[in-house]
Amino acid sequence: PVGAPDKALAKKVTKVGIIGAGLMASQFALLFVRKLQVPVLITDLDQARVDKGIAYIHEEIGKLEAKGRLDSDTAGKLRSLIHGTVDKSEYADCDFVIEAVFEEVGVKQQVFGEIEKIIAEDAILATNTSSLSVEEIGAKLAHPERLVGFHFFNPVAVMPLIEIVKTPATADAALSTAFVVAKGLGKNAVLTADAPGFVVNRLLAKVMGEAARAVYEGTPVADVERAFAPLGLPMGPFQLIDLVGWKVAAHVQDTMTAAFPERFYANENFHRLAELSEVVEKDKGGRVTGFTRAAEK
Ligand code: CAA
Repeated sequence: PVGAPDKALAKKVTKVGIIGAGLMASQFALLFVRKLQVPVLITDLDQARVDKGIAYIHEEIGKLEAKGRLDSDTAGKLRSLIHGTVDKSEYADCDFVIEAVFEEVGVKQQVFGEIEKIIAEDAILATNTSSLSVEEIGAKLAHPERLVGFHFFNPVAVMPLIEIVKTPATADAALSTAFVVAKGLGKNAVLTADAPGFVVNRLLAKVMGEAARAVYEGTPVADVERAFAPLGLPMGPFQLIDLVGWKVAAHVQDTMTAAFPERFYANENFHRLAELSEVVEKDKGGRVTGFTRAAEK
């Protein structure tokens, strides 16, 4: 079993770097800046994506201000602490850099390889992978001991959990920093081993996979959702698939099926669900796909 290391080993985080400016990355940026109140950098492949991320963050800060959750001085300060650019050299003084790029080992290895050349030797790298091997993501780093898994849940602002993932290489300083950062973000961190799906997604993949199977067997989506209601979960499996995003959920299924073919057979059913055109709008991720509508009928 793995254990959390001494807090005294944690590195002070004075600037956070986020790789990516998509929805997940923008939600991270907002959370980091609100809770840690340190400069937060986001980057992406082109300026249009960066601008979109910044616009989302500013809009969300505006909503918090309108709700009376932030006064205008604080809102202004938070906006000024967020910086978006395509110039990756600005990661040079970040102490904690987390990626939220496409969920593919090669892509994550490539972005970390690039960033590692820029950051300081003792800067910590974190990956938000939801089910890939963190060890494999770090395999091409010159210093794999600085990499830790830091897995958020959707919606990032609301869900209280972070899975912190240790690989055989992860140094205690990186692990300890991750725990202190998670606490600073107001989250409950759990330490998990670097196994496919960590803890939460291996359970969720089962639930979603079996729900998909039930539908494939003929149970309407709305009835699967209704059948879950007495369990007291905040939402049924199909609403959750919509929340996480259809493609992300399918990707988690694929990863689990590839890792444990004897235990996860749902992948095929998941992809067959996409054939039910009255249920799923294939190319839309996010909340308002057909599943939620079908579940609400
Ligand atoms: N972004 C930011 N804030 C959000 C939000 C979002 N997408 N959705 C809801 N909220 C906020 C609301 O603003 C509200 O905040 P205030 O109370 O401060 O106003 C609060 O959350 C509650 O929202 P609502 O009253 O509108 O809705 P609710 O009580 O029905 O809760 C929910 C909504 C939090 C999403 C709840 O349904 C829930 O917890 N669902 C389960 C989510 C879950 O299981 N997530 C894990 C997904 S798996 C994953 O992410 C892993 C992976 O790797 C793929």
